[in-house]
Amino acid sequence: MNPAKSFLRILLFLFLSHFSLSTDTITQDHFIKDNDEVLVSDGKTFALGFFSPATSRNRYVGIWYYQIPGNIVVWVANRNNPIKDNSGILSVDSRGNLALFQRNQTLPVWSTNISMAGSRDSVAQILDTGNLVLLQSDARKDILWQSFDYPTNTWLSFQSLGVNVRTGVNRVYTSWNSPDDPGVGNYSLRMNPSGFPQMFLYQGSTPLWRSGTWTGQRWNGIPEMTKNFIFNDTFVNTDDEVSFSSDVRNASIISRAVVNETGVFQRLTWNNEAQRWIDFYSAPKESCDFYGHCGPNAYCKPDITGDFECSCFPGFEPKLPQAWSIRDGAAGCVRKSAVSLCGNKEGFIKVPQVKVPDTSVAHVDMTIDLKQCKEKCSRNCSCMAYASAYSDIDRGIGCLAWHGDLVDARTYTHTGQDLYIRVDKDELARHTKKGLLQKKAVPAVIIVSLAVAFLILVALLRCFVRRQKRTRIRNNEDMFSLATFEDSLGVKEIDETRRNGDLPFFHLSTIASATSNFSSDNKLGQGGFGPVYKGVLLNGKEIAVKRLSKYSGQGVEEFKNEIMLIAKLQHRNLVRMLGCCIEGEEKMLIYEFLPNKSLDSIIFDESKRSLLDWTKRLEIICGIARGMLYLHQDSRLRVIHRDLKASNVLLDATMNPKISDFGMARIFGGDQTEGDTKRVVGTYGYMSPEYAMHGHFSMKSDVYSFGVLLLEIITGKKNSSYVPDSPSLNLVGHVWELWKEDKAMEVVDLALGGSYSNEEVLKCIRIGLLSVQEHATHRPTMSTVVSMLCNETTLPSPEQPAFIEQKIHKGDERSSREGANSVNGVTITMVLGR
Ligand SMILES: *[C@@H]1O[C@H](CO)[C@@H](O)[C@H](O)[C@H]1NC(C)=O
Ligand SMILES: *[C@@H]1O[C@H](CO)[C@@H](O)[C@H](O)[C@H]1NC(C)=O
Ligand SMILES: *[C@@H]1O[C@H](CO)[C@@H](O)[C@H](O)[C@H]1NC(C)=O
Ligand SMILES: *[C@@H]1O[C@H](CO)[C@@H](O)[C@H](O)[C@H]1NC(C)=O
Ligand SMILES: *[C@@H]1O[C@H](CO)[C@@H](O)[C@H](O)[C@H]1NC(C)=O
Ligand SMILES: *[C@@H]1O[C@H](CO)[C@@H](O)[C@H](O)[C@H]1NC(C)=O
Ligand SMILES: *[C@@H]1O[C@H](CO)[C@@H](O)[C@H](O)[C@H]1NC(C)=O
Repeated sequence: MNPAKSFLRILLFLFLSHFSLSTDTITQDHFIKDNDEVLVSDGKTFALGFFSPATSRNRYVGIWYYQIPGNIVVWVANRNNPIKDNSGILSVDSRGNLALFQRNQTLPVWSTNISMAGSRDSVAQILDTGNLVLLQSDARKDILWQSFDYPTNTWLSFQSLGVNVRTGVNRVYTSWNSPDDPGVGNYSLRMNPSGFPQMFLYQGSTPLWRSGTWTGQRWNGIPEMTKNFIFNDTFVNTDDEVSFSSDVRNASIISRAVVNETGVFQRLTWNNEAQRWIDFYSAPKESCDFYGHCGPNAYCKPDITGDFECSCFPGFEPKLPQAWSIRDGAAGCVRKSAVSLCGNKEGFIKVPQVKVPDTSVAHVDMTIDLKQCKEKCSRNCSCMAYASAYSDIDRGIGCLAWHGDLVDARTYTHTGQDLYIRVDKDELARHTKKGLLQKKAVPAVIIVSLAVAFLILVALLRCFVRRQKRTRIRNNEDMFSLATFEDSLGVKEIDETRRNGDLPFFHLSTIASATSNFSSDNKLGQGGFGPVYKGVLLNGKEIAVKRLSKYSGQGVEEFKNEIMLIAKLQHRNLVRMLGCCIEGEEKMLIYEFLPNKSLDSIIFDESKRSLLDWTKRLEIICGIARGMLYLHQDSRLRVIHRDLKASNVLLDATMNPKISDFGMARIFGGDQTEGDTKRVVGTYGYMSPEYAMHGHFSMKSDVYSFGVLLLEIITGKKNSSYVPDSPSLNLVGHVWELWKEDKAMEVVDLALGGSYSNEEVLKCIRIGLLSVQEHATHRPTMSTVVSMLCNETTLPSPEQPAFIEQKIHKGDERSSREGANSVNGVTITMVLGR
């Protein structure tokens, strides 16, 4: 039958038959025409039909969300070929192809256009995934064609991006021209399989943004994309296929990614309660994200202090110093002259936290590790830099080596990987000698000596000032007690000229000498924003110094936040801040030193956990609860901590718990009790579902974290740790399963040795489970928690907690500071050795 006859046949059918479109399929006898009802997928998720975008009157066939308002179109059939009237008919043609016909035209406007020998009885069906499939109508129901292979601007769950050599399919996402015109636009997102695969966003054929490499768990250039429980991320890298997909784990979560008309790749999730789409992440976001912003051999470092964001890699200098000086980095950097890099005692300098340079030109060897990578690179004089390929897996797998220019590198504050740059021996020597303190400590000492003279002069004045301050502070219980503190220190310790409200500023030199120049022996640990050191002031007072990493541009806001917050808060169960230090690039917070470190270093430590018997643990639980209650209700501010976890609870000499790390806390004014954020920060395993998924935080999201922490204290196990008896569950899920079977006492830490009252422990488990309930409204407030802990009352029964099914992935309790949900469970399909 020729197409003209086919059209006639359809018209005849229209007049002769009365059919219902209650199905989700199109056949030769069962088609849809414009202004008819639409096809709806079985689970009523997606609809297929005719539409006109925005203000346009053109007609297109497309797929959109059936139940979500706004007619969000996720796929368009005839995107470059609109129908100008309402005469369109979508049907299976005589050859078995799905085709779109228009009145008086014999050739289809659009067709699946595949050659099929003798399968004219095919059936088109719209699925709940949003995929439109053309199936063989025989028993095998083979997929002959699918819309997922011909993406437009929207990337759905279960749809991938990338190339399949065997099928010849290359799934590329292209923007619309404009909201009125779904035709192929200028921006496209595609997989670039050369070298080591990366996703690229192009404008025309010009690279605009690069995802960076797949590190084993995420794309290096999407810091928000931490390991998570919402998406099952799959990267396939084989000879046949290089692709990536990010599928929702629970079909009730609605998520899509779009290459939009302004050249932004955005991932959005639907918040059903708020009835709006939430921006999960998007790229490019800042100037450093734009491809090659700083030119070759330079890297881009976002700088909020206003410094130029481009820097040359070690051993390089600006190619055009003049352009560089007026902040045009496009020409990049060149090797400093007269440098011999061959067999001349050269070496490598590590640049940490990097999105490694464009790997499409990198040499890839997946069979060797980082150490062998270094050897291989040093042996070959043309090798400029190296890094490990899958850097998130154990100690890194594989080797990437660059033999030419290093293009489009940038640094991050809290993610990124190590890149090793080849430099000559002079550069190497300069680099090892370089160090802030050698440069700064000496002049600082001189300044301090001069300042002594000055301080004597102002001593009288100071006495007067101090008396006044004392009076004020006594009137204000919440205020940090400055006078007491000042009395306990020598005058020289504080920089009087740089007071910020009532918070003392310390000299860098004071802190440097207190911490033996930040020696590694003094390092207590690594916090979210940088290392923490122990120090001793001249008067013998012990302090803890949190030194913001120099590269932590994004930490400054949090730094100020933390200063302002803690300066105003004082409670037995909150860590006390003594002051801060801001000098040049250095930013530090000075705290009271707590000798027993953090709770996690004890309860999760096989050899130490028996130090805490039940009585002590109960005291700790109560202390944390009171500290949180103070933050939520009893202080003059309303503070949501947002990152309560075992490592943020410090223990003093008597094992009294103190909540620390307010870097991510939010202060609410007046009656506000909840908020939303686009930048979800927090820590895997402690984040409530509404916060992790929708960025919705409230006191109840803190309660959730408290509940997790409580269960961890009772069991001595991390929520994230693997539960051998029930590998598909995390700790919360495991406790819940046992609770339902009345076997909750089985989870109690064996190190407690039975020295506890079953009744008390069960009560605490119950409170823990009540606190982690899925629905925020069902969780108790902190004040209820405190009264439940302290009083003999009958407690309600908990309902099922959130996230009981999670895939377990070892390690990594770091906070996610650069956005998004940092929760575990990524599936990696990876065949090494391309
Ligand atoms: C198109 O078809 C309609 C009716 O189906 C007819 O009235 C009209 O004349 C046709 N137009 C042309 C250009 O053939
Ligand atoms: C179908 O494919 C053929 C050959 O690839 C092409 O010439 C033709 O224009 C296509 N037709 C449609 C409707 O896409
Ligand atoms: C696409 O790029 C071309 C050439 O740069 C430009 O003329 C055109 O306006 C762009 N189209 C859109 C929709 O931005
Ligand atoms: C994740 O995706 C892979 C590949 O698509 C699939 O094999 C696996 O079962 C998925 N895992 C989960 C937990 O959904
Ligand atoms: C998916 O989420 C919904 C709503 O949060 C929940 O009711 C359902 O049990 C979840 N399904 C699975 C398989 O986890
Ligand atoms: C594209 O996405 C960016 C980032 O989410 C947004 O600011 C912009 O408005 C979007 N453009 C369109 C046309 O939707
Ligand atoms: C160094 O590496 C380049 C690129 O892989 C290669 O062409 C060259 O032969 C190597 N040189 C030596 C001495 O191995």
